[in-house]
Amino acid sequence: MVSTKTSLAGLEFDNCFMNAAGVWCMTKEELDGVKNSAAGTFVTKTATLEERAGNPEPRYQNVPLGSINSMGLPNQGLNYYLNYLLDLQQTDSERTFVLSVVGMSPEETHTILKTIQDSDFRGLTELNLSCPNVPGKPQIAYDFEMTERILRDVFVYFTKPLGIKLPPYFDMVHFDQAAAIFNQFPLKFVNCVNSIGNGLYIEDETVVIKPKNGFGGIGGQYIKPTALANVHAFYQRLNPSIQIVGTGGVLTGRDAFEHILCGASMVQLGTTLQKEGLYAFERITQELQSIMEEKGYGSLEDFRGKLQYISE
Ligand code: DHB
Repeated sequence: MVSTKTSLAGLEFDNCFMNAAGVWCMTKEELDGVKNSAAGTFVTKTATLEERAGNPEPRYQNVPLGSINSMGLPNQGLNYYLNYLLDLQQTDSERTFVLSVVGMSPEETHTILKTIQDSDFRGLTELNLSCPNVPGKPQIAYDFEMTERILRDVFVYFTKPLGIKLPPYFDMVHFDQAAAIFNQFPLKFVNCVNSIGNGLYIEDETVVIKPKNGFGGIGGQYIKPTALANVHAFYQRLNPSIQIVGTGGVLTGRDAFEHILCGASMVQLGTTLQKEGLYAFERITQELQSIMEEKGYGSLEDFRGKLQYISE
């Protein structure tokens, strides 16, 4: 039987699939759903220090080739997710889970990460540098100076396993510059990619979401080539100690296979999970296993990062 198990930051997971932050992860009930599905682990909705209501609805819309959203960081606040995870460490002590966070300011980010550092939390922390939807707040990861400063300040006190969620980059020079920054720090993973920020979808003569006059992050089929490029660009450039989580445009086992071929150690489902529900984990796992069987691959290591180029 082929295996889709994986490891991240030295922690082991029975399956390489999990939700993408923002989908099926706002409440304990939703998180329990992912935990009890075929997924290997889950990540919580990106938490700020205090709870937030987010932007006015409608703020998420499925569209034929994907989705558009401008949620505006609605969440239950750090303590809700952290306390839930601390409880799970008692009841599901053999598994580990991922806590996604970001502050509304660098100071708040440090307050959050210091709270996690000082807690008994044993899982992975994902610092979200790529929320595109809070009016007036640019994405941190498109500001390289700010990104470097935050990471430099974080690693003064943070010693638990930490990864970052990145937006897509679109220029080779930006891949080089971003990787040169990330390689200075003991990051455990980078997650490529968040939604392609600030797209616009129109039906008849009207936008389909209310915030920001219809501008929102694009996910789903639209973004797979961009996601694969980012996964592979960082796989090529980052220290081998920094693993890649692949997110973006995974509808099928074939899409997941391509993410892993590009270098992903873990694969996240966002729009597909939103559209299809928890059964997507089982279906896509089975589809990936069938491809591996056909090709004679017994484990993800047999093909991870082995993307082939066209030579003379
Ligand atoms: C939201 C969207 C994102 O893409 C993200 O990374 C964090 C938050 C949101 O709008 O809630």
